[in-house]
Amino acid sequence: MPFSDQINSLAQEYLKDSKEIEGVRPPSNELKDKSQELAKRIDSARGRPLFFHYIGSGRGTGPYVELQDGSVKLDLINGIGIHVLGHGHPLVVKSSIKASLSDVVMQGNLQPGLEYLEMSEKLVEVASLGSNIKHAWLCQSGSMANENGLKICRQKTNGARMIISMNKAFAGRTTMMAEVTDNDNYRVGLPRYEEVVRVPFYDKNNPNSSEESLQALKEIIEKHKGNICCFMFEPMQGEGGYRTAPRDFFVPLLETCKKEGIPIFLDEVQTFCRTTEFFCYQTLCLGEYVDVVSAAKSLQNAATLYTPEFNPKPGLISGTFSGSTVALKSGAAILSHLKDEQYMGPTGKVKKINTQFSEMLENLSKTSCKGLISDVEGLGLMIAFTPFDGGKDIMLKTVKKLFENGLMCFGCGSNPFRLRFLLPAILTEKHIAEAGKIIEQTFLDLQKQMG
Ligand SMILES: Cc1ncc(COP(=O)(O)O)c(C=O)c1O
Repeated sequence: MPFSDQINSLAQEYLKDSKEIEGVRPPSNELKDKSQELAKRIDSARGRPLFFHYIGSGRGTGPYVELQDGSVKLDLINGIGIHVLGHGHPLVVKSSIKASLSDVVMQGNLQPGLEYLEMSEKLVEVASLGSNIKHAWLCQSGSMANENGLKICRQKTNGARMIISMNKAFAGRTTMMAEVTDNDNYRVGLPRYEEVVRVPFYDKNNPNSSEESLQALKEIIEKHKGNICCFMFEPMQGEGGYRTAPRDFFVPLLETCKKEGIPIFLDEVQTFCRTTEFFCYQTLCLGEYVDVVSAAKSLQNAATLYTPEFNPKPGLISGTFSGSTVALKSGAAILSHLKDEQYMGPTGKVKKINTQFSEMLENLSKTSCKGLISDVEGLGLMIAFTPFDGGKDIMLKTVKKLFENGLMCFGCGSNPFRLRFLLPAILTEKHIAEAGKIIEQTFLDLQKQMG
């Protein structure tokens, strides 16, 4: 049988086997103990318990994923934004099998394969819409993509030290990105480098928000003139609470930076593919301002993209790994699928999912869950709300109770602590209705418990 037919038939076998995973189900009594044992081994190997009792079985269909304890969950967090087409998508299964039949597992910058080319070209193609981005440099995590972006900005500004970031920013886990991140809990015991200054992100409850942020930016520029390497920000805040801002908030900030020659660096690690366009700068029509942008998560890999003016001198960015052959091939296939199958744009599938999911939550917040669910906000496949009074303990309790009841989501933000969903782009009305029922029941049960 030709190679391609064998790949197809292998994929069909896998898909047939996973097909029965088509709805939420509880753990099975026979598998529960074995799964607990596996979880304990993970705890012991890494020295920290799992947040959820989640160990995947390797089978899943659409938004449903099967765990080692035999349960099936409705996965609305997707590895914190990785599985943009959900679980067991035929396209991803096929491209993964195909790419795995290769001479090597990993690819690097010195000896790339065609998959490296495919992903780089696809990325530049989608990024260049409405911007002057012309190059993509691959790496393996959002944090590394941000580190590369920062180095590029610093080289361009002759080694300028200060980074302008925003309140409640999240930029990753490396030493420098922990400094850019505005969360003291993520840098306990680390020294401070004092290289980051912050502008407040948009606050929809403050009518003077835009002016105050612009004023803060101007004061920072005045104070650190000649020593600022970039204005680095998330165009929609992720870990910070799923907060959005209108185009009009950003334009004066970006105009001011441009006038001062300060590079504009967008962190789109989480927003990539998720805000109804490939990049949030396209959703907000800000492409003309972008010098450097990072992407990861939905890409199955990570990358730093830049304009020709920001192309760094050889030697500044490199590294052993560019990505696994499977990740590069599948990531490129996902980008083509999202582009060709009407997911993007104001009438695309992503926008429809956003409307239906937000309406479901808004409806609950006005009816049976009034006072329990509030402040629904987000863009595209990134939606969050505040549970109960927004306290940390109740948010965590709600996330765990939802998991027990078959729905996976996660927290974000602080004061208020919020509950976020990173929805897969294959969600249907039926899945959204099912999610609504689980959410409603969980909140009503918790309310009863709390008296
Ligand atoms: C906005 C943003 N930047 C950077 C990162 C870091 O990416 P990674 O975890 O792949 O290093 C994340 C991860 O959640 C993120 O949301």
